[in-house]
Amino acid sequence: MPLAKIVITILFSSLICPAINAQNNFDIIPKPVSVSTGSGNFTFQPDIDIITTVAFKDAAVLLNEHPAIKNARIKTVKKNDAANKHAIYMLNATEADKLPENAYSLAVNEENIIIKAWDKPQMINAVYTLVQLGYLQQDPKTLTTAVIIDEPRFSYRGLHLDVSRHFMPLSFVKKYIDVMAIYKFNNLHWHLTDGAGWRLEIKKYPQLTRLAAWRTHAGWKEWWNNGRRYIEKGAPNASGGFYTQQQAKELVDYAAKKGINVIPEIEMPGHSEEVLAVFPELSCTGKPYTQSEFCIGNPETFTFLKNVLDEVLTIFPSRYIHIGGDEADKKHWETCPKDQALMQKEGLRSVDELQSYAIKQMDIYLQSKGRRIIGWDEILEGGLSGGATVMSWRGEAGGIRSANAGHDVIMTPGSHLYFDSYQTDPRTQPEAIGGFLTLEKVYSYDPVPAAIAPDKVNHILGAQANLWTEYIPTTEQAEYMVFPRALALAELDWTAKEKKNWKDFQQRLQSHYKLLQDLNVNYYRPSYNVGHESIYNPDKKSNLITLTTEQLNAKNIHYTVNGTAPQISSTYYVAPFELNHSAVVNAAYFQDSIQIGPTLTFITDIHKAIGKPVMYNSKWDGYPAQNEATMTNGIMGGLTYHDGQWQGFTRPVDLIVDMQETTIINSVAMNFMQLIGPGVYMPGEMQVLLSGDGKNFQLAGVAYNDISDKDSRLLFKRFDVKLEKPQQARYVQVKATNPKRGYLFTDEIIVY
Ligand code: ACM
Repeated sequence: MPLAKIVITILFSSLICPAINAQNNFDIIPKPVSVSTGSGNFTFQPDIDIITTVAFKDAAVLLNEHPAIKNARIKTVKKNDAANKHAIYMLNATEADKLPENAYSLAVNEENIIIKAWDKPQMINAVYTLVQLGYLQQDPKTLTTAVIIDEPRFSYRGLHLDVSRHFMPLSFVKKYIDVMAIYKFNNLHWHLTDGAGWRLEIKKYPQLTRLAAWRTHAGWKEWWNNGRRYIEKGAPNASGGFYTQQQAKELVDYAAKKGINVIPEIEMPGHSEEVLAVFPELSCTGKPYTQSEFCIGNPETFTFLKNVLDEVLTIFPSRYIHIGGDEADKKHWETCPKDQALMQKEGLRSVDELQSYAIKQMDIYLQSKGRRIIGWDEILEGGLSGGATVMSWRGEAGGIRSANAGHDVIMTPGSHLYFDSYQTDPRTQPEAIGGFLTLEKVYSYDPVPAAIAPDKVNHILGAQANLWTEYIPTTEQAEYMVFPRALALAELDWTAKEKKNWKDFQQRLQSHYKLLQDLNVNYYRPSYNVGHESIYNPDKKSNLITLTTEQLNAKNIHYTVNGTAPQISSTYYVAPFELNHSAVVNAAYFQDSIQIGPTLTFITDIHKAIGKPVMYNSKWDGYPAQNEATMTNGIMGGLTYHDGQWQGFTRPVDLIVDMQETTIINSVAMNFMQLIGPGVYMPGEMQVLLSGDGKNFQLAGVAYNDISDKDSRLLFKRFDVKLEKPQQARYVQVKATNPKRGYLFTDEIIVY
């Protein structure tokens, strides 16, 4: 080959696939404790011998998942030694190996591969490191020599799956387990029962799966908005499903082989409409479809729950059984004679204590069977039961309180680990429940909050992400929401905090798209959209503009600041840049000289009201953002009202900016957002009034809403009042009506 051609080929191939460079790929996720690579190669033969001690016989079978291994011969041996022959050895660690208790070692030599561990879970972790390495290589048959020593940071590494809101077939749950195993998760939290459907065969109560597993509508949202009824299996419209006990056992065994424990969740005392539709006598009213909560004062409730749990325990060997405990509406108990009588008898002072009583009964019962309960953080209310482990979902506060009181905790805060949230600009996504949780934000999570006392840190068992499926009707959508965010979770659960590094993770992630493609996972592809952030610097009187992309290479963004469309010849983005004037910025993502993403257009304002004091005739409610500084800090809100720049009002907005001197006013604008799911609406209109003395205000103009209050998308609108002719004023009043009586969110009073 002529030299020029070789050079071009090398250049070209490194341009096309910079990250998936055929050999030597050790981009393991989660990042191991240590990897040292050598210069030799090991080549797999498809029928390679796997030579294992008795302890790891089952783990050896898992190596058949390696893409270069097919039907390897597994030989069980007594001798705990490796010979110099082509084989994979799975050996018991010995004192001489100096391996920490939860670690494994994996040595790839030219002749053989030697894996050592003290126990099976660690050996399974090692196997999946090797399997993952197989998927990461363009040619899985060859692996560079290396030594890996590795152990997890946390003992609990979980993913959750809600199969009540939408039933997911067993084949999918197995696929979920397959991918979880490769990323070293060790717990599947299987949310089997909820108001939207009971999903587990209970032989004593066949009605549960004859009726409560079947809905009038397949889609949760349609069902929720249309009567929320169950219908008998066999009816023309019956939609849903359940797992037989045999199938559930099959899954438990399948997962166990891969090192994953399955924790069933049987919801109580709330989220139980489906049970009460079948057994209305277990509700306070005695009537179906009237409440979500069991009547705790009815002893039959406990008979039912214990009978159900007895069967659950025969299916699931898990030490932990999840009993729910979240979001019970306790008001029925306040007036129910049976609940009141029980409270009297047991000296319970509140309905919180009544719920706590119910949870304690379950704790005592399950402890008597050698198990432990997990509950959502509401189980703290009314007193936490002695043996309970808490899942902290409403932020971290419940987890912090519990750990500091000496209880075990699994962190699963909605802010960082709810995978039903949007992962990118909601305006580009299939409808989700709300929220905004990027891959980077997941990655940033540390399961040990600073408020946990040093001697209580060991009570944080680990972290879990939850996949609630109200808005996830298909298995494809489930995969889309979980991956690749689950890879970020895998790393924060496994890798020591000091070793975590977002840029490094993002780089390694590039190699994992091939793995996810090989396993046919419908993962979320990184968007070509350009995002932006604009931070006002009051000292410099300039905006610092950051442009972002989910693509690895931010340098493929080109932008203009003069309102014209971006071209390949426009400035390319290198790093955040400053603008000391207002501008219309346009930016887009380019690849190979072609624009492949949409154009982002935004105004970056440096306006006259920045830094001026604001008086609140109506105060914010629940969403203070930056308090009094919010509306004139020069910083605009982003895609979510949780970002600390959007201020929320439940009354009409009525604010006055004191410009501190007579000022020529040309225009006044405010941004609002709409997201009707959580009740966020546009104002009907925004009025601007001006005054010289702060007492007598004259109407200067009005901007009207033109966005439908039925439009369920995330929408933004700049209400801009341009004065017919410039006016002098010291005080600028803005009033925004609230016709829907929902939330109004606004971020800045922009005065020119
Ligand atoms: C929950 O999200 N209700 C635990």
